[in-house]
Amino acid sequence: MTNKYIYFVANWKMFGDLRTLNSLDKVIKFSKNNKKNKFKIIYCPPNTLIRSLSKRFKKTKLEVGAQNCHYSYEYGAYTGQVNSSMLKNVGAKYIILGHSENRLLGETNRLINLKIKSAIKTGLKIIFCIGETLKEKKTNKTNQILKSQIEKGLKLIKKKSQIIIAYEPVWSIGTGIIPKEKELIKTILFIKSRFKKNYPKILYGGSVNGDNVDKLKKIPNIDGFLIGGASQNSKKFIDIIKKTIN
Ligand code: PGA
Repeated sequence: MTNKYIYFVANWKMFGDLRTLNSLDKVIKFSKNNKKNKFKIIYCPPNTLIRSLSKRFKKTKLEVGAQNCHYSYEYGAYTGQVNSSMLKNVGAKYIILGHSENRLLGETNRLINLKIKSAIKTGLKIIFCIGETLKEKKTNKTNQILKSQIEKGLKLIKKKSQIIIAYEPVWSIGTGIIPKEKELIKTILFIKSRFKKNYPKILYGGSVNGDNVDKLKKIPNIDGFLIGGASQNSKKFIDIIKKTIN
């Protein structure tokens, strides 16, 4: 962990409705009582809850993000889709792009690149997910895959100040398994080496919880966590934050 702001990004995936929001009061209270510590809490709920969350987070330090968007910056005839400026309009300041669950549904590096460009234009900060599958890991292709995801995903993007990388090994998401310490240190260093001077913040994601965060927080060059399952429960989420910042 660095001494810069530590990021805790909650990826709610396709979970949550208006009733879920009451549980967030605990997190708001926690953040208010910990003003001295340098950390950011960003909730990425389903689109249906972005507006309600951003209203609820007014006058707090908590921020809201989206989980995906269409690549078009303009309005268009794309049934069921929303673009990045529509998400910004309802309160999103961040957006997760390139998540493996969307890559699995057919999102290519090229499509992710278009989405990132559109979100940059909108002024959102992008949490750009990269990560290898178990098969790729077993065949020693991790670095090759990460290199290709970074190069293709960020192709022709000069201004990288809005980019935050989230390294999420696909085999770790939702499985309870995290990478071995040595492996993770090496991989994070490799990701960093893909950028020249101004390397972006790097988050780790994949089964982060209150039991393994003590180990994870010791990995150098990690600026925070992208948290799925454990972020849906305010107590568990706060526990992760507490254990990281203390
Ligand atoms: P997980 O999900 O924490 O439930 O493994 C992380 C993610 O998919 O972003």
